[in-house]
Amino acid sequence: MVLLEELHVLSARAGQAWRDGGWKALAGRSACYVSGRVGALGLRRNEYRVAELRLDGIDIPSVTCPFEGLRVFRVTRTAQLDELVAQGCADLRRYVAGAERFLRAGAWAYVAYVGSTIAHVTWVALTCRSKQALDSLPYGVRESGKEAVLSRVLTMREYRGMGVGKYVTAWLLRDLSREGVVTMRCAVERRNTASWALYERLGARELMTIRVVRLFGRVLFSDSSAACDATGTSPMAGEPPSEKAQE
Ligand SMILES: CC(C)(COP(=O)(O)OP(=O)(O)OC[C@H]1O[C@@H](n2cnc3c(N)ncnc32)[C@H](O)[C@@H]1OP(=O)(O)O)[C@@H](O)C(=O)NCCC(=O)NCCS
Repeated sequence: MVLLEELHVLSARAGQAWRDGGWKALAGRSACYVSGRVGALGLRRNEYRVAELRLDGIDIPSVTCPFEGLRVFRVTRTAQLDELVAQGCADLRRYVAGAERFLRAGAWAYVAYVGSTIAHVTWVALTCRSKQALDSLPYGVRESGKEAVLSRVLTMREYRGMGVGKYVTAWLLRDLSREGVVTMRCAVERRNTASWALYERLGARELMTIRVVRLFGRVLFSDSSAACDATGTSPMAGEPPSEKAQE
């Protein structure tokens, strides 16, 4: 099942690469994919910064829509994806391996379309179960309905650097705030300056650093320089990860 999902996503991405730049883009992206997969084998060490943003008492910056025709949807059920597909929109399940599994685990997807094309997706977990499905890093989400973890944030290659990520993130933060969420967290690999810039521009601060050692993708060991949040409780308080997930 997982393999089938991965194959669907690969064929969709290969098609996109071909449309973007013919065989050169296809060869370049295939090389990136293979080196990423090979790099994930064996022992790996990564360092992540956890960003936190308190949504109560702040004005979430209003970000101007970067171009006409950009629409954002909050998707919480697979039936909503079917409706979008019926309206001619691209199927998220063809672009994100595991999309159906994440939704079944209770995760929400914020999907931005330009016309019928997917420009951006951010996944959000409000429960331990959905957090574990999305992201195996050891930092938690307390099930009060007031905390959200953002994960698997992706702007499609052809829309990067155009303000789409910032617009969608501000949009979803406002949406989460209306739902009663007061704290947003997100883990960003230390060398991912683009992703860090995105959260920093919206007012997030660094909460802690997590160091992880993985063997074949599974977290073997982790430690953190955990700071305490405003309530004095460690953000590591969430359930420990129990299943393999990719960040
Ligand atoms: C990280 C990512 C989601 C950013 O999305 P994006 O749509 O390109 O971001 P935006 O264009 O909205 O830029 C947001 C801010 O980050 C800054 N930024 C964007 N790319 C940057 C880069 N490569 N280096 C430094 N800053 C960058 C922008 O300048 C902007 O700040 P500004 O408004 O003050 O100028 C996108 O690069 C991506 O999908 N990367 C691959 C997947 C990934 O790394 N996901 C994150 C996992 S945590």
